[in-house]
Amino acid sequence: MFVCICNGVTDSQIRQAAAAGCREVSELTMRTGCGATCGSCLDMAGDLLRSHAAPAQPAGAIYEFPLIASAA
Ligand code: FES
Repeated sequence: MFVCICNGVTDSQIRQAAAAGCREVSELTMRTGCGATCGSCLDMAGDLLRSHAAPAQPAGAIYEFPLIASAA
């Protein structure tokens, strides 16, 4: 399902970002474009991000963040 109609970002892409360690909506916007146009999707995107958040990484941990196709 599309969460961000303006930029074609799906719930699946947001769950993928959350599982990869994305914790802030601002980071999600940078990575996917979600919310970068009208912003009406930001509340739902934030809820999805929080509900699918990966466990916290230890301080100094480096993790790979997959490039999401719509951000390329
Ligand atoms: S619906 Fe996401 S920026 Fe417009």
